[in-house]
Amino acid sequence: MIIRRAKIRGRDGLFDIRIEDNVIAEISSDIQARDEEEIDVEGRLVTPPFIDMHFHLDSVLTLGDPRFNQSGTLLEGIEIWSEYKKKLTIEDIVDRARRALMLMISYGTTRIRTHADVTDKKLTTVKGLLEVKRLFRDVVDVQITAFPQDGILTEPENRELLEKAVEMGADNVGMIPHLEYTREDGVKSIDIAFEIAKRYDKDIDGHVDETDDEHSRFLEVVAAKTIKENYIGRVTAGHATAMHSYNDAYADKLYRLLRKAEVTIVPNPLINIHLQGRYDKYPKRRGLARIKELLANGVNVALGHDCIMDPWYPLGRGDMMLVLFMAVHVAQLMGYDELIKSFDLITTNAAKALRINSIYGVEKGKKADLIVLDAFNEIEALAHLKRPLYVIKNGKIISMKTREEVEVADPLTGKLVKFDEKMLRKSSSYY
Ligand code: FE2
Repeated sequence: MIIRRAKIRGRDGLFDIRIEDNVIAEISSDIQARDEEEIDVEGRLVTPPFIDMHFHLDSVLTLGDPRFNQSGTLLEGIEIWSEYKKKLTIEDIVDRARRALMLMISYGTTRIRTHADVTDKKLTTVKGLLEVKRLFRDVVDVQITAFPQDGILTEPENRELLEKAVEMGADNVGMIPHLEYTREDGVKSIDIAFEIAKRYDKDIDGHVDETDDEHSRFLEVVAAKTIKENYIGRVTAGHATAMHSYNDAYADKLYRLLRKAEVTIVPNPLINIHLQGRYDKYPKRRGLARIKELLANGVNVALGHDCIMDPWYPLGRGDMMLVLFMAVHVAQLMGYDELIKSFDLITTNAAKALRINSIYGVEKGKKADLIVLDAFNEIEALAHLKRPLYVIKNGKIISMKTREEVEVADPLTGKLVKFDEKMLRKSSSYY
C-alpha cells in the first residue's frame, strides 16, 4: 500500500508512505514505485494510532442497568457497578467490548490499557477480558490491569484475587490506595501491589488519589516506592485528581519525585471534570491533575477515556481526540505550541509509558499502524473533531469513512452550496 501526499507531525512538506506487509518500508517526498492499493490523502495529517491509557472495558455500555446514576457521583457509580457485577458473564463482557472496540477503532484508537475489576469474586471480568484480548488481537492491542476496585485490604480475599488475576494472565498490577479504610492501609496496599508486581515481573498501574481531598497523598508514596524498589519507568498513576488541590510548594516537591521515578500520570479529563468538585459550592474546583505543570516539569503525561456509557459516565464516543479536546480546555493548553504538542498526550507519551517506542510512530522500519485524520493539522483536527478517514493496523485498513458531503445555504445568495471546513481557512496554506 502507498499513502500519497501525507502531512506528518513535526515535518515540513508532504510525504508518500510505502507499506510492505506490516512495516513502514519507505517515507519520501515522491515514491516512484506504484502499488495496486494507493490512497491519495491530499495533505491530510497522518499519525500513529491513538492510545487509550486508562479504560474500563468490563463495565462499558452498561448504562442504565440495573439503574441510572442519578447523583452523578463516583460513589453511586461504584454501588451500581457492584449490583451489575453479580450477573456478569464472559459472553456479556465479550459482546459489550466488541461493540465498544469497534467504536473506538473507528475513532483511531488501536491500543487500550483496560482495567479488570478483580474484586469480582469469580474473576469473570479477567476471564472475559482475556478472551477479548485474544479474540480481537488482529485489530486492537489490549493490555489488562488487575484492578482491585473496592480496595486490596477492605476484604480478606481481595489480595488473593489480585494475585490470582495476575497468575491468570493480567498484564499489570493495579491498586486504589485512597479507597482503603485508612492511610496506613493505603500505604500497605501500595506495598502489596509492588510485591506482586515484582514477583511476576509486571508493570504497575494504579488508580491514585482520585479525590478532591488535598490530604490524599498516595502519589508521593507510589513515586518513592518506585525509586526505592528500582521500578523506574514501570509505574503509571491514573487520575491523580487530588493534585489539583495541593498547595504549590508541595506540588513542586511532587513533580521532582515523579520525574525522578519516571511515573506516568494519566488524567481522564472527561470523567474528572464530571466527577470531581462534587463537594464544592462555588467556586468549584476543576479536579484535574496539573497537566500543564507536570509537562513543564518533565513528567510524562498520557490520557485515558476511562468510561463509555457506564455507571460513572453516561456519555462518550470512544474518541481520544474528544478526550484531548477536554484536556486542552480544562488544563488551558491553548497556546499554539501547546496545541500542536498536545497530540503527544494521546500518542507518543503513552507509547513511552508502554515502552513500545521501537515499533510506534510514522517512521521507516516501524509497524504499519497509522491513522489518516480528516484534517490538515493538529489545530484543525481538534477544532472539527472528525472521525479519521482511515485506520490502518498491521498494514491493513481496519476502519474507513467515506468523505462526507454537506450542503449549506450560502448566506449571500441563499442557495445551497457544498461546504467543507477547508473554506474556513484564509488561504490554502496551513494556519
Ligand atoms: Fe478508572
